[in-house]
Amino acid sequence: MEIKKLRLGELLLPSNVLMAPLAGYTCYPFRMLAQELGAGLCFTEMVSANGLKFKDRATRRLLFTTEDEKIRAVQLLGGDPAVMERMAGSGLLEDADIIDINMGCPVPNVFKSGEGSALMLDQKRASAIIRGCRKSGKIITVKCRTGIREDEMFAAEFARMCEASGADMITIHGRSRSMMYDGAPAYREIEQAKAAVGIPVIANGGIFSVEDADKMMERTGADGVMIARYGLEHPFIFSELTKKPCKKTAYEILAGQMDLCCRYYDETFTLSYMKKLSAYMMKKRKGTKRYKERLYQSGSPEELLEVIGLIFGADTGHPGAEC
Ligand SMILES: Cc1cc2nc3c(=O)[nH]c(=O)nc-3n(C[C@H](O)[C@H](O)[C@H](O)COP(=O)(O)O)c2cc1C
Repeated sequence: MEIKKLRLGELLLPSNVLMAPLAGYTCYPFRMLAQELGAGLCFTEMVSANGLKFKDRATRRLLFTTEDEKIRAVQLLGGDPAVMERMAGSGLLEDADIIDINMGCPVPNVFKSGEGSALMLDQKRASAIIRGCRKSGKIITVKCRTGIREDEMFAAEFARMCEASGADMITIHGRSRSMMYDGAPAYREIEQAKAAVGIPVIANGGIFSVEDADKMMERTGADGVMIARYGLEHPFIFSELTKKPCKKTAYEILAGQMDLCCRYYDETFTLSYMKKLSAYMMKKRKGTKRYKERLYQSGSPEELLEVIGLIFGADTGHPGAEC
């Protein structure tokens, strides 16, 4: 795919390969990693506007960042235009350059509360949320799906509404809510949405290789791609696509994540996140299954790093372990 910088208001994103928001994963350390490897933009995981409103500590922790993160994008989840507007403009989000609005989450509890993908069924409310968040003066982006049901997709119409309401960019996960996370992306829906609006359109869904990214760009004519699960499995994909040099091995990457976690987070978070990320990264590595139990049983960062060394340290010649 053609790699280019992407302009968003006054910001110039270093590449058009974006890392998706992923609940439980896209914490500050992972965002720093993806950016180091070439991702043009990374988002926090979805942050509940109600959680922020009620001063929930765990929700507030999701906003953690430092001055080292140059472009900061927070994804907000919520269905009440007044609450979304208030939180977008609040001091809690003063560090954010970009607010991404979640209009794609398919989870039943979220959907039933009128949040996430439910907003695709209520375009008036979705529009009011975008207009309200815009008052914060920040760059506003939207992440949505192609629709609710597989046989009734309307990404182009929804993209038009987002643009008319003031969104600066839209990311389309090329699957309907009913498809959850499976099935081939609906390229044509994304292509039609791209043709319908003037703002950048980012294509997401089912990108698990360089070839998949090329195919997504060819079929949709989108301005860039967003990678989700494969970014966890093989973070080197950002470097492979953007050609940003990276000499680190998988082990060095995980050791770096551990460092950042220990510096900024507590041990409970560190162990949980590092185990989940390591498990993702070892998915396609042969002969590593036997370490899985030890990985999950590790009770301290030192012990965990030792197991990570056994899993990833010995195979630096593995394709993809270096780039
Ligand atoms: C574990 C997990 C957590 C996710 N969390 C979020 C989230 O917080 N916000 C969001 O907009 N999408 C979220 N998604 C959806 C992804 O951002 C992405 O749209 C989806 O996984 C499709 O891309 P992929 O096929 O490349 O994985 C999540 C997906 C997974 C698997």
